[in-house]
Amino acid sequence: MIKIGILISGSGSNLQSIIEAVKAGNIAGEIVLVISNNAEAYGLTRAANYNIPTKVVKHDDYSDRHTFDQELVKVLKESQVDLVVLAGFMRVLGAGFIAAFPDRVINIHPALLPSFSGTHGQGQAFAYGVKLAGCTVHFVDEKVDHGPIIIQAAVPVLSDDSEERLAARILRCEHKIFSRALALFCAGKLQIEDRKVKISGVDESQLDDQFLISCPVE
Ligand code: GRF
Repeated sequence: MIKIGILISGSGSNLQSIIEAVKAGNIAGEIVLVISNNAEAYGLTRAANYNIPTKVVKHDDYSDRHTFDQELVKVLKESQVDLVVLAGFMRVLGAGFIAAFPDRVINIHPALLPSFSGTHGQGQAFAYGVKLAGCTVHFVDEKVDHGPIIIQAAVPVLSDDSEERLAARILRCEHKIFSRALALFCAGKLQIEDRKVKISGVDESQLDDQFLISCPVE
């Protein structure tokens, strides 16, 4: 059983969906620890509701990013974590952290990478005026929002959308693809080749004919 450590900073709705997927038996893993850099994060309450151990590691308590990262590595290793999941964790992790968990850190980003990396991906996409927005689950490497992509989902941007409404539509998609990507990882079905993530044992034949257009077409 893969031991999963989840890092959060806020509401933890992605955390909630992962907890539920584990409980439903859809992810062959065990969430052994939830860490937040923010003591007020509601995600801590969500984890506690399921008796999942939690820990607060505040970045402000450390003199620089490296020592903060090293503390996170220490705490995760103490819990024998195999897979680190960044579920709305709003800090950038350095190369030292990534090296401690090679190809074993997975992040969700609320935009279709490589577009709109960095913070507020949904807001950036909305302001740009794209017609299709979305979200990306990817392995984490040394560069921000850059590692090999596991799953992406696209959603339309509607004419009367607000940024909040678009962000909510993207978030609903995040909940679907994050758990799916973690299930595939825990089942050993993901392989990285030349920065492309191959998914084995999944029937993709129906996808060949699928597309999403942002406006109804006759
Ligand atoms: C999500 O949109 C995630 O993609 C972004 O921060 C948000 C976290 O939401 N990085 P939640 O804490 O999982 O509700």
